Amino acid sequence: MTQITDYIRTIPDFPHEGIMFRDVTTLFADPRGFRMAVDQMLHPYAGQRIDAVAGLEARGFILGGAIAHQLSVGFIPIRKAGKLPGPTISQTYTLEYGTAEVEMHDDAITAGQNILLVDDLLATGGTAEAGISLIERLGGVITACAFVIDLPDLGGRKRLEAMGMQVDALCAFDGD
Ligand code: PRP
Ligand code: MG
Repeated sequence: MTQITDYIRTIPDFPHEGIMFRDVTTLFADPRGFRMAVDQMLHPYAGQRIDAVAGLEARGFILGGAIAHQLSVGFIPIRKAGKLPGPTISQTYTLEYGTAEVEMHDDAITAGQNILLVDDLLATGGTAEAGISLIERLGGVITACAFVIDLPDLGGRKRLEAMGMQVDALCAFDGD
């Protein structure tokens, strides 16, 4: 039987030597793979009320848009700094080298809304934590953080679970 991991391509030494890059473009490009990913990502929340999906730029937009459509709810983009046109709230986070910043429109969420946070991959959890912070600052209640790939060795799952988050991923790669 075909599994999600069969659709994910691994590219060694990208973006730099020693990194095994888990490439989801091959998953997104395959009609059965993409549907399988979206359906499986939704599975844990069957019967639960989700008011909106928030996606992390960039690959979280592709998954999050499809998931929001499937749920018949709206989609909220969490973007890299400087891209959103309206008033925003922002959150910095730490990368391997230096810091980065993500933003959300300050009226994107109504307090008390149940939000599903979506991205393609969970590594250190820094990106997701920044997204969680933005959602919670606007009073959103996070149902779960949903990913295609978890890299458990990088500690993101433990970090998010320590914050009380439900973390769901379709597959994991060890040794990354
Ligand atoms: C990758 C990936 C996640 C994030 C995970 O995105 O798509 O968003 O890193 O890493 P973390 O858990 O250590 O924060 P990237 O920052 O490369 O940007 P992109 O999605 O815009 O390509
Ligand atoms: Mg990303």
